[in-house]
Amino acid sequence: MNKQPLADIASALVAPGKGLLAIDESNRTCNKRFETLGIAPTEENRRAYRELILTTPGLGESISGAILYDETIRQTKRDGTSFVKVMTDAGIIPGIKVDIGAKDLARFPGEKVTEGMDGLRDRLAEYYKMGARFAKWRAVIRIDQDIPSRGCIEANAHALARYAALCQEGGLVPIVEPEVLMEGDHSIERCFHTTEETLRTVFNQLYAQRVVLEQMILKPNMVVSGKECPKQSSVAEVAEATVTCLLRTVPAAVHGVAFLSGGQSSARASGHLNAMNARYASRLPWPLTFSYARAIQQPALQLWKGLNANVKDAQEALLYRAKCNSAARQGKYSDEMEHDEVAAVGFESLHLHLGSQD
Ligand code: 13P
Repeated sequence: MNKQPLADIASALVAPGKGLLAIDESNRTCNKRFETLGIAPTEENRRAYRELILTTPGLGESISGAILYDETIRQTKRDGTSFVKVMTDAGIIPGIKVDIGAKDLARFPGEKVTEGMDGLRDRLAEYYKMGARFAKWRAVIRIDQDIPSRGCIEANAHALARYAALCQEGGLVPIVEPEVLMEGDHSIERCFHTTEETLRTVFNQLYAQRVVLEQMILKPNMVVSGKECPKQSSVAEVAEATVTCLLRTVPAAVHGVAFLSGGQSSARASGHLNAMNARYASRLPWPLTFSYARAIQQPALQLWKGLNANVKDAQEALLYRAKCNSAARQGKYSDEMEHDEVAAVGFESLHLHLGSQD
């Protein structure tokens, strides 16, 4: 079988005006989010929720690709149409999360390493056959008094690089996601230095494992103050710190950069991305876009509440957030967009209860 060139898939994923939607929460994380809203944590509800998302009319105009979880890529619409077909018909490229989560790193208290390398070559081949054209692996780096350690950063960077090489061998574009977490009271400067060290280490490992930079997408955190830091940075400060950090560490050959939202409110995630594109686009060698989960989905999940009657409203809220981020991808988003529409439903407060994902 002739496989599509990886650089073409990567181009389509970061096409002008478009970004990625992550709906790859593990069952455990998805259930936790359901339970917070009183939605029963069942397989059928997870399926119905993903059907709601993937059948949102017009979603493909702002969303280039969506990242699925193993359960979801095997599921269908109520009428039996596979989700992969629903997506390709809508012009949305199917992607798949292939790590199996962050586990305690032996001898490094408080730190994690992401697992999932066993059998990965075969799993990638199966996902490719099912229609997936890109994959995701997320490493988590936590900031606290004496962490992260070199041991943790190196173990995670090495795993990301081996995963990325296997993806490229198997015909899937790797999304390389080293996430420095927002949890904690650290300053934006601490986040900057930790993100810089992490990205430098990741790119060293990608080089060592012969990963082709033109055939991958980086999914980094933005450089922000820790959630509990008394001094919260402005949108302009986050944009400047993030762009500076990326320019110092991410080679120009990388096909694109698609941020995670990491627990920022939906409006902040759009505002930060917008500020970077509006102020710095001419200095950037790669497109800067989004690959958000919470910052796109949360208003929709809050409206849906597990009820059929709410599907249309939830889809409108989802589409609205996708459009806000499409505008931010082009530097055309403004705060006023938040006041116009149905999607301004109190999601700021909701973010307080969300936690991280695996
Ligand atoms: P958030 O945007 O909610 O951080 O999720 C992105 C993601 O894919 C985490 O792996």
